[in-house]
Amino acid sequence: MNARVEDYSLMDPVVQSDPKAFYALLHEQCPVYLMPETGMYVVTRYDHVRAVLRDPETFSNDTIAGSGINGDRYRVYAEALRDRGWSHVQTLQRTDPPVHGRYRRLLDQVFNIQTVKALIPRIEAVTNALIDSFIDNGECEFVSAFALPLPGVIIAEQLGLDADNIATFKKWADSILAPAMIAMTEDELRATAEIELEMQHFLADMFESRRREPKADMISALVHADSADDEPLSMHELQNLMHQLISGGYDTVISALANGMWLLLRYPDQLAKLHARPELVKNFVDEALRFESPVQGLFRRATRDVTIAGTTIPKDAMMIVRYGAANLDPEKFACPHVFDIERDNAGAHLAFGNGAHFCVGRLLAKQELLTGFTILLDRLDDITLARPLPEPPHLPNLLLHPMKELHLRFTSTRATSEKTG
Ligand code: HEM
Repeated sequence: MNARVEDYSLMDPVVQSDPKAFYALLHEQCPVYLMPETGMYVVTRYDHVRAVLRDPETFSNDTIAGSGINGDRYRVYAEALRDRGWSHVQTLQRTDPPVHGRYRRLLDQVFNIQTVKALIPRIEAVTNALIDSFIDNGECEFVSAFALPLPGVIIAEQLGLDADNIATFKKWADSILAPAMIAMTEDELRATAEIELEMQHFLADMFESRRREPKADMISALVHADSADDEPLSMHELQNLMHQLISGGYDTVISALANGMWLLLRYPDQLAKLHARPELVKNFVDEALRFESPVQGLFRRATRDVTIAGTTIPKDAMMIVRYGAANLDPEKFACPHVFDIERDNAGAHLAFGNGAHFCVGRLLAKQELLTGFTILLDRLDDITLARPLPEPPHLPNLLLHPMKELHLRFTSTRATSEKTG
């Protein structure tokens, strides 16, 4: 029997974990898909996704995702921040041009190529230290032992936390993402708000101390970021920007590292090729971001009635731009379900978005992935799966693509060369 669109749901954790068959069906039969469970319109074809991302006047980023999934209950969260911390204001990713431009200019000063280049020795050192901590065991749980602490330590240090406080940082990052992604009870929302309040007060102290005494970190750069045309950022704005940097820059990189490693295990011929030709690592990173996109989709709101591929999206309807589906569109990527680290247009993926909101942290993310995989493949050999993956392998999530766990077995290249040498 032929598969039908009605047989699938984007709310189904099995489909979220492996959406390829569903995306193929949508591309063919229903490129703009009205999700029956949420009433949101999902845009799936590459050209349409790109066009939506490049037209912020019609497709606005001014949405209220946090309250969206938790409806009225979100009030208790908002009130706690208002009374004892800093209410969320809309900055950067939640704004449209021209307001967006002010935040973006300031952020682009912080996340430029020079800042990222200066971080390379630290990314290398953290990568090596993490590998040192498990290499002699011959196995590890890759998500907790590597994928999570690498970006965690780098961002935490940039925020002025020391590496020993990484657990606190992980708690903050998980908590501030949760209200936008998970349906919660009022009590859970209250408890989560307390964690965000703890983070806000820590950051407020940090802003003040870096204002007085700047250091070579991201938080100092943000506090001192200004330009001739732009006002310095207020405390509310700084809080909201940090919220976005933490929520946007942590789980995404964890997911890219974990999914990237899993892809190499699923396609051992590609792993062997990468071992033999390490110069392919850059293209491998792009192909992995295309194939298992860490951000599968994000929200937009239609500002007027608009028709895409024959479907009319009414004014004020919520939409999901589905980067993950666009990256598997056969009209853009030949044989999209083949994982090919030599694909010549892998870099055309939309995993970092496009247009005004093109990921501000992409240079840092790519550097973490490049350095991480280069050193992992240099030091580890014979990498295989040590345990079958849970079914499904990913945590339930409508927008992101986090892996539950990934147990690896390997040998050390040093040990191999000592054996053969
Ligand atoms: C592999 C890792 C990453 C992926 C896949 C990713 C993905 C994305 C995507 C798809 C967007 C576009 C949002 C939109 O269209 O509205 C975006 C924006 C953004 N990303 Fe990333 N990201 C990653 C890493 C990072 C890192 C490391 C940071 C910061 C430390 C970061 C911070 C941001 C911010 C602040 C925005 C909003 C930019 C704006 O609205 O102008 N991301 N990211």
